[in-house]
Amino acid sequence: MSVKPMSYPLMEKLVALSRRRGFLFKSSEIYDGINAVYDYGPMGVELKRNIKNLWWQDMITSREDVLGMDTAILMHPRVWEASGHVQNFHDPMTECKKCKRRYRVDHLPENTAVCPECGGELAEPKQFNLMFKTRLGSTDEGAMDVYLRPETAQGIFVNFDNVVSSNRVKLPFGIGQLGKAFRNEITTGNFIFRTREFEQMEMEFFIRPGENAQWLEYWSQERLKWFVSLGIAPEKLRLRPHGKDELAHYSSACYDVEYEFPYGFSEIEGIADRGTYDMTQHIEFSRKNLHYIDQDQRGEKIVPAVIETSAGVDRTVLTVMADAFWEDETNDRIVMRFAPKVAPFKAAVFPLFKKEGMPDVARRLYEDLRKHVATVYDDGGSIGKRYRRQDEIGTPFCLTVDHESLNDHAVTLRDRDSLEQVRLRILSDS
Ligand code: GLY
Repeated sequence: MSVKPMSYPLMEKLVALSRRRGFLFKSSEIYDGINAVYDYGPMGVELKRNIKNLWWQDMITSREDVLGMDTAILMHPRVWEASGHVQNFHDPMTECKKCKRRYRVDHLPENTAVCPECGGELAEPKQFNLMFKTRLGSTDEGAMDVYLRPETAQGIFVNFDNVVSSNRVKLPFGIGQLGKAFRNEITTGNFIFRTREFEQMEMEFFIRPGENAQWLEYWSQERLKWFVSLGIAPEKLRLRPHGKDELAHYSSACYDVEYEFPYGFSEIEGIADRGTYDMTQHIEFSRKNLHYIDQDQRGEKIVPAVIETSAGVDRTVLTVMADAFWEDETNDRIVMRFAPKVAPFKAAVFPLFKKEGMPDVARRLYEDLRKHVATVYDDGGSIGKRYRRQDEIGTPFCLTVDHESLNDHAVTLRDRDSLEQVRLRILSDS
């Protein structure tokens, strides 16, 4: 992976389009921004929300064997001792002795001894913990060090017993949640691919130990299919097993779902066999009885094993955007070819001119449509400009009310990708 982000034409075009059309802005831009932190604008938040809603629908609502949760970002510091993050959540870091820039050693070309920016000498690598530390409490004496969670998963593990005792669940079953996580990454970059504040979509699937391999295979395939269901080109997606040297401290086997970005295949989701590691650690550290009691097996006490699916929301947004971006040179336009289910708006309604009753008909149609699907109304500028605007935010269908509409109660429907236009009847009171 390059240590110089943003040097890929597609990425640069995505950054420019994101700003121009309100998908993403640099955080605190009026103060010159803050490194690798982004704000979602009106289009970006719709795209992101659609992705999160689809994940929730497909992983939680539509499944009998998975429940949802929403746990706190701040947790007791002992959680991160038990989870192994205090001990093990490190990246090897080196610093340039001359310009003081910091790099992740595994992001540099092998055996490099000099800074890729200034050619200065690189220091001996050190281990750098990725958790953000803050203080909880208002007085110096009473305050304690806490961490911003580096993964949402631990909120689920520590609530295992609460969920089992308050719900009718039987192994195997999952608990999923969506939420922010934070990592003080040494190197960030490639737009929203690696940022220090990000959002996860995680699901911990609790199973009988011994069934790990079959569930790891099942969830890896399910999750790969999910990205295809978002409209992402299947030939740009792959499942890659982790080598032993890549595994996280809690995992004994892992598959990454990877997408082929301009800078190479990169992880958008990890599916990991966490075994009984987390539950065993929390039983030991909390001294609580977090076993699963199997009533079907005469009260057998089990420490469940876990298969985890862990996707990055922001990485999924970036994947969907990179995959949808299309420069239609024949028609001199840029199009975000989003699948309708992720597109910020599904339809746009235009009056051809702001006269002769066209705006009235168009507004009525817009009011009707928006009760059912996310719809935008636009009467600003030439019709060509309005089409270009919708193409760039990926609206699949544009409906234009023209002179004829007043007589034939029909509008022109234009397809974003094929540019085909058909005449479509609307209800006569519209
Ligand atoms: N829970 C896995 C991860 O955050 O990478």
